Amino acid sequence: MSSRVKLNISDTPLNPANMPQHVAIIMDGNGRWAHARGQRRREGHFQGYLALKDTVYATDDLKIPYLTVYGFSSENWRRPSEEVHGLMDLMATAIHAELDELMENDIRVRVQGRLHEIPEHTRLAFAEAVERTSANARLTFTLAINYGGRAEIVDSVKQLAIQLQSGALTADAVTEELISKNLYWPDHPDPDLLIRTAGEKRLSNFLLWETAYSEIHITPTLWPDFNAQSLIIAISDYQSRVRKFGAVLEA
Ligand code: IPE
Ligand code: IPE
Ligand code: MG
Repeated sequence: MSSRVKLNISDTPLNPANMPQHVAIIMDGNGRWAHARGQRRREGHFQGYLALKDTVYATDDLKIPYLTVYGFSSENWRRPSEEVHGLMDLMATAIHAELDELMENDIRVRVQGRLHEIPEHTRLAFAEAVERTSANARLTFTLAINYGGRAEIVDSVKQLAIQLQSGALTADAVTEELISKNLYWPDHPDPDLLIRTAGEKRLSNFLLWETAYSEIHITPTLWPDFNAQSLIIAISDYQSRVRKFGAVLEA
């Protein structure tokens, strides 16, 4: 069993009645974290893995049912091959090493993205984690790997085009709900809160469809320095927002 100290929502300033149900994170700044210490980028990625581990358990402690993180974008192939392969190896090793503890904590792992394009050993490590945790019922922890928001929409439209071609679907039946239902994980609620670390103010092709009405929290904290306290600050910020979804609020 792990010796982790459990975080209790009643020990935080958070309002338990207004918690986000789905938190999504663009984990950015590993390279800058390493550079600032005169270390290799891979050291930043390794520390980023440790920050992710803390974040997963903090999210679970706060009883948030969904966490989705951006692990590798469809554009990250543009990085030097040594870095890409280092990341693929790290992900395979990390998910394998964490599996027993994820099981103990009843956490369900999912992966979304074009997995057929990633190295086999990484794909198999994810497949094992997804399979072994599939009946777990607490936090659903989704890793976006070789994921692109545009690619996800393209994949969804392709599914619909096949049904249209076969006559199973008519153009009039294409609605927002139908597109949502053909995305990678149709049963996930849209993220209430999107966090980006390391200060960049862009989506970088993450969850383009799903973040239509997400509240966005950008922090200068570099991802390897992100921890439970950073998550609490992000959720406090979320709780200070007025969500209007296009409507006018009554006085
Ligand atoms: C995020 O950190 C990790 C991945 C994109 C996989 P970066 O590697 O992008 O870090 P910076 O942006 O160079 O600091
Ligand atoms: C987004 O970060 C991708 C991940 C966090 C996995 P990047 O570092 O790749 O984004 P850009 O290049 O700064 O937009
Ligand atoms: Mg970056």
